[in-house]
Amino acid sequence: MAFGRSERSEDRFLSARCLPGESLLAFGANYGCSRRAGIFSVGARYIVPLGVIYIAIMPTPDLGLDKTLAALGLSEAAQVVARFADVRARFDAESGAVHDESSWKQFRDAWLGRKSGVLTQITDNWLKPATPELKRAVGQQLNELRAHVESQIEARRLAIESGAEENALTRDRVDLSLPGVIRPVGSHHLIRQVFQEIEDIFFSIGFSVVEGPEIETPYYNFEALNIPEFHPVRDDMDTFYIDLPKGSPTPLLLRTHTSPMQIRTMEKQKPPVRVIVPGKVYRRDNPDATHSFAFHQIEGLAVDTDITFCDFTGTIEYFVKQFFGPSVKTRFRPSYFPFTEPSVEFDVSCPFCGGTGTSNGATCSKCKGAAWIELFGAGMVDPAVYGFVNYDAKKVSGFAFGIGIDRLAMLKYGIGDIQVFFQNDVRFLRQFP
Ligand code: DAH
Repeated sequence: MAFGRSERSEDRFLSARCLPGESLLAFGANYGCSRRAGIFSVGARYIVPLGVIYIAIMPTPDLGLDKTLAALGLSEAAQVVARFADVRARFDAESGAVHDESSWKQFRDAWLGRKSGVLTQITDNWLKPATPELKRAVGQQLNELRAHVESQIEARRLAIESGAEENALTRDRVDLSLPGVIRPVGSHHLIRQVFQEIEDIFFSIGFSVVEGPEIETPYYNFEALNIPEFHPVRDDMDTFYIDLPKGSPTPLLLRTHTSPMQIRTMEKQKPPVRVIVPGKVYRRDNPDATHSFAFHQIEGLAVDTDITFCDFTGTIEYFVKQFFGPSVKTRFRPSYFPFTEPSVEFDVSCPFCGGTGTSNGATCSKCKGAAWIELFGAGMVDPAVYGFVNYDAKKVSGFAFGIGIDRLAMLKYGIGDIQVFFQNDVRFLRQFP
């Protein structure tokens, strides 16, 4: 053994490469190594997974290709045969180390190269100057060697090509049994989902959706809804006004409810009207678990020539049962809104404790023991409102309602803090795919 060395070529592999004139003997305790241990020659690169590897780099035994047989002292046919066997052994060892196209080319040129390939050297140095007695034996050996070399080199080429093809096939193979690529595309926000749920319920009974501006004039937000400038109900709604340049024709504010769309809709279309209006509204509320300066409502409006209080309660009851389940009961209590007369507050029997006020022997946490949950405000459209939209109050009648979506979503999905709707924490959002 002349000398040994190993080099670290990549993070997880050891490799050794021998230079022209060297042979590489690799063996070791590592399984990959011992399995593939062997002698490699010029240009061969021996790579094993990182582990124990013993490597010996030795000078390649000189076959005397550049000398004549006479100069090598080979005068017997048997000696010639033995030397050809050495050459063939070298060829076989080198052939075993050829695993890719570039080392194959190097290998082919080293053996079959016209100018200085091994076979050319043997022809020039051994065959041509051979004595007449040896010529026959040398010629025969050389023919056998050439046949072997050519067939093996071709075999290696095919093996490398098919290996490469196989690798490419393996790499590109489409395995239809693998699960598809799941792209995290997100989902609708819970508020949007509840909007859709409610919209679907109203679609099924002939309502359609309209949407309106979030920046409104006081006329639509208040006056046309029968809330004149000094009406006390403005107190909790007099809210975010927009800073406008002096001389602007009308003040603007962020709408405090979706009710202005009642007016805008009736201005645009004659009865029958059956619309719902989902959207964002704004009020000067300090944020806490049940208040937010921005929240969501769905307004409802039905106006026609023959709408009765029965249609009104029947519609609301249908919606509530669809949303909370058929076993809930509804009730309404008298209330006051300037744009409805009579006005009511709709309650639903607590869907969480079955309207008993207790749950698992304790006070129901959802209705706080009241057995009823206050849902939303509604009423028959006040005839004064029709005056603002040129409807004939003597001929038409209708009902309206305004549902707070955030509150409904909190109730239905057991959410204790309205703020989570606006924080957009994915841990929350993911719970409602
Ligand atoms: N706009 C009212 C609010 O935000 C809710 C409301 C009550 C709307 C009664 C209506 C209704 O359409 O009839 O407080």
